[in-house]
Amino acid sequence: MKFFPKSFIFGAATSAYQIEGAAALDGRGQTAWDLRNKDEFGKPTGDVGDVACDHYHLYKEDVQLMKTLGLQSYRFSVSWTRIYPNGYGKINPKGVEFYQNLINELLLAGIEPAITIWHGDLPLALDQIGGWQNRETITHYLNYAKTLFDLFGHQVKLWFTHNEPWCAAFLNEYPINQQLEIAHHLLVAHAQAVKLYKNHPNGNGKIGIVLNLGKQYPNTFDVKDYLAARNIDGFINRWFLDPTLKGVYPADMVSLYQKHDIFFSVEAGDMELIQENKMDFLGINMYSRGIQAYTEEGLFNARGVSNPNAQYTSMDWEVCPRSLYDLLVDIKETYNNVEVIIAENGSAFEDTVSEDGLVHDINRVDYLKSHLEATRQAIEEGCNITRYYAWSLLDNFEWGLGYSKRFGIIRVDYDTLKRTIKDSGLAYQKIIQERGL
Ligand code: BGC
Repeated sequence: MKFFPKSFIFGAATSAYQIEGAAALDGRGQTAWDLRNKDEFGKPTGDVGDVACDHYHLYKEDVQLMKTLGLQSYRFSVSWTRIYPNGYGKINPKGVEFYQNLINELLLAGIEPAITIWHGDLPLALDQIGGWQNRETITHYLNYAKTLFDLFGHQVKLWFTHNEPWCAAFLNEYPINQQLEIAHHLLVAHAQAVKLYKNHPNGNGKIGIVLNLGKQYPNTFDVKDYLAARNIDGFINRWFLDPTLKGVYPADMVSLYQKHDIFFSVEAGDMELIQENKMDFLGINMYSRGIQAYTEEGLFNARGVSNPNAQYTSMDWEVCPRSLYDLLVDIKETYNNVEVIIAENGSAFEDTVSEDGLVHDINRVDYLKSHLEATRQAIEEGCNITRYYAWSLLDNFEWGLGYSKRFGIIRVDYDTLKRTIKDSGLAYQKIIQERGL
């Protein structure tokens, strides 16, 4: 048996829009996601999150399931529009009540709550003023964050500012200079939120960001492939790691953008703010890796290559636990052994329910174990990793792909809403019980 350190914490993660449902209930305001896949009369034309896992009504049952699994911590996000239906203005007491009940239930079950302030579900009212492109959104985000610290900060001691700012900035149709501006505003909002928390009377816990990171490897030993891998690493990973941990943008990427006449505006004082307000830990969402080959075309001179010898998940993501180990060791060496929390890691596979009513998801069991082993080895190597959150507690609404992709260690039957702990959930339960592999 190989053990995890005594202080290591095992948990699972979800996000509000992906599990809660109750989209039009108790004063919740709309997000852009509420309008997607609906016709002009509001009738669904595809998968929507209106009901999802109905966690809004079934949270007590879900907390009991977490207890059965032995989870020590639960990472969830608050729905901004339950607290402020229009993004700002009057607080919605019903929304506050839901999260207060959830937090109380978790504490009663001996499970530590950990909150993501914003996980992809921007209020529609803010989207309509340009979302994160408009600096006004930063002001409203800070007001919302302060409200959460005021309301729940005495009970919740672990906070995540944003989930995956790279996705928020770059997974859209805007030109790259605007995308870089969105990224910059997210970084400014993050630094402001860290500052706010540190000066808040309830601010005696820890606060950090959650970045989606994937180690980038060159396709061959050719120096040009190294350049391609480095550029994609700069685009996805270092563009957020360097500002949040070193207070600066990566110089090679800044000159690459300048070379192509790509500029974005940085207001006076922004970089000082980012420099002066460092977070307590780095949250990482890791699912896969990238392999890059050099090409003459494109901004980054890179072309993603697939690995014919590897297993792929149903998201078409390569399973490569070794890349998690490499990523963690890189971070330790480059960023002064900052505290790292694995905020999400998991896999989507086609599940089938057996005749016994159970889900024998062998692929997900292997994925979970091999990535936990990579984490453990990185700890042995001296990396300061303190937590692991499995993605996800429940099968849920996988954004653009709806309910077709299942990431849960607990199955959700979307017709009956019945929950069934999968074999991967049982494997995780055993690992947590034994505190090792
Ligand atoms: C996000 C989750 C998402 C998961 C799988 C992350 O990008 O934080 O919301 O469901 O990965 O795609």
